Amino acid sequence: MNRDHKHGHKHGHNQGQGQGHSHSHTHTHDDDFDWDAMADLLVLEGEAHGPYVQQAIAELQRLTAHGERTPRRILDIGSGPGVAACRLAAAFPVAEVTAVDGSGQLLARAGQRAARLGVGLRTRQAEFPSGLAELAELGAADIIWSGQVVHHVGDQQGALHALADLLAPGGVLAIVEGGLPARSLPRDLGFGRPDLFARLDVAMTHRFARMRAELPGSVAVVEDWPGLLRTAGLTEVHSRTFLVEHPAPLADGPRQLVRGTLERSRQSLGDFLDAEDLATLDRLLDPADPACIDRRADAYLLLAKTVHFGRRP
Ligand SMILES: C[S@@+](CC[C@H](N)C(=O)[O-])C[C@H]1O[C@@H](n2cnc3c(N)ncnc32)[C@H](O)[C@@H]1O
Repeated sequence: MNRDHKHGHKHGHNQGQGQGHSHSHTHTHDDDFDWDAMADLLVLEGEAHGPYVQQAIAELQRLTAHGERTPRRILDIGSGPGVAACRLAAAFPVAEVTAVDGSGQLLARAGQRAARLGVGLRTRQAEFPSGLAELAELGAADIIWSGQVVHHVGDQQGALHALADLLAPGGVLAIVEGGLPARSLPRDLGFGRPDLFARLDVAMTHRFARMRAELPGSVAVVEDWPGLLRTAGLTEVHSRTFLVEHPAPLADGPRQLVRGTLERSRQSLGDFLDAEDLATLDRLLDPADPACIDRRADAYLLLAKTVHFGRRP
């Protein structure tokens, strides 16, 4: 992840929402995780991944249906542009839902989205993990959702402890971690070498390892998410995996997501792919090429997301 290691975010995320200046911090892999630049991709992903979030929310509704009170306070930690946060707000209309993120720009997007959809959503800027404890002043949370965020924090176990501390007794934490990587094209494309996606997976694992190693306060831990939730003091821990499936031919939104993901692979995996695979990506991304992702009838999107749930006793 491209992080300003002192301040967490690269583009003034420690300022008021959307008002930030750019830090002049330099870093080797500068374009890897510029969250602001990824806003559109995060929205496309959030929308295409909607079916898994809806199923996870249904599980949260089930888990909180028999508590002493209906959920009143919900936090989405690392909300990005707020696609899931708006779904939570729609599903729990009585609750006060707060989208929390380090990026003021992404929170501004979340606020605009909520206004457009007519759901109630608050936003709060905070760096993780340093700013987590301060979220206690919002009041104990009945539900905390954190999608694809904990792995961006150096001390993952520490982050889970901090999140568990924010829960009311009986409150539920849901984190999205793990699952299976996406597939979106045939194994053999008819050009380049077959199995491009298998090599993209390997390249991603290398980049992920580098990202984790470079995070401030990085702690190596067995990434046994249910075990980590139990160590954080949570009970009734369980995991559910949901399929996200958009068959061919792809609609515009998922197709743009597949294009954006390939572009991102091209930009960020250069250190880990050979020239032939990079040339294949170039062809897939070239609008003038008949093999371009924009026009392929065989493109699809298939992946699995795992959500781990735990309850504060
Ligand atoms: C992969 S995106 C996930 C967005 C959304 N939850 C989803 O599932 O699509 C990670 C988000 O976490 C935020 N984030 C990552 N590391 C952070 C940190 N250390 N402090 C605050 N926010 C952070 C980023 O700004 C980004 O919006």
